[in-house]
Amino acid sequence: MNTPTHTSTQAAPLSQDELKTLVGQAALQYVVPGEVVGVGTGSTVNKFIDALATMKDQIKGAVSSSVASTERLQALGIQVFEAAEVESLSVYIDGADEIDHQGNMVKGGGAALTREKIVAAQSKMFVCIADESKLVDALGAFPLPVEVIPMATARVMRQFAAMGGSAKVRLKDGQPLVTDNGQHIVDVTGLKISDPLQFETDVSQWPGVVTVGVFAHQKAQVCLLGTSTGVKTLTF
Ligand code: 5RP
Repeated sequence: MNTPTHTSTQAAPLSQDELKTLVGQAALQYVVPGEVVGVGTGSTVNKFIDALATMKDQIKGAVSSSVASTERLQALGIQVFEAAEVESLSVYIDGADEIDHQGNMVKGGGAALTREKIVAAQSKMFVCIADESKLVDALGAFPLPVEVIPMATARVMRQFAAMGGSAKVRLKDGQPLVTDNGQHIVDVTGLKISDPLQFETDVSQWPGVVTVGVFAHQKAQVCLLGTSTGVKTLTF
């Protein structure tokens, strides 16, 4: 006897890439017509930039957090302003490597953390766009990016080791990666970041540290999270 076959009508779960597209499009609702928008860096932001191109005639332009985002914005016909040309931005839209339930983030997987923090600091609202894999109970599983002046790298790595962490210089093609600001990145694992605000305050003061990838002082006010059931809006 033949076993009956069951055909399922259930849709396949959305891929991570599709979730990024969803949140990139959802972020358009936070863009203020007639204004300049702050734009972050990364694969999720690339989806946002593509969506932003559909309303480029309604905005003045963008302040970008990296050379890569600037090139993508310009290729789509969106004017890019220097950060110094714009006093304040209503909104900054960017991704994250990790975001906790208070809106604190780890960022810098794309090595753009310094400019991201600068643009976030001049923005009234940070809207984080992320797929659900980025939501964590506590920061620290993702290797923490820290941008460092090369002369200080060895000492900064020893300071992290003394805290129980393990730091590695990020490489590109076998050489230390050089950021848009001409500096290096160390990625630190094994840290417990139980107080993100204090951690960011402390590490930011170490000589030679340009930017630590904990965003607690510039945390998100909103997170558009791509989930299997659609875009979830978290507010902090
Ligand atoms: C770049 C970043 C990115 O926002 C972060 O790495 C997330 O990237 P993606 O959207 O590709 O997952 O901080 O420096």
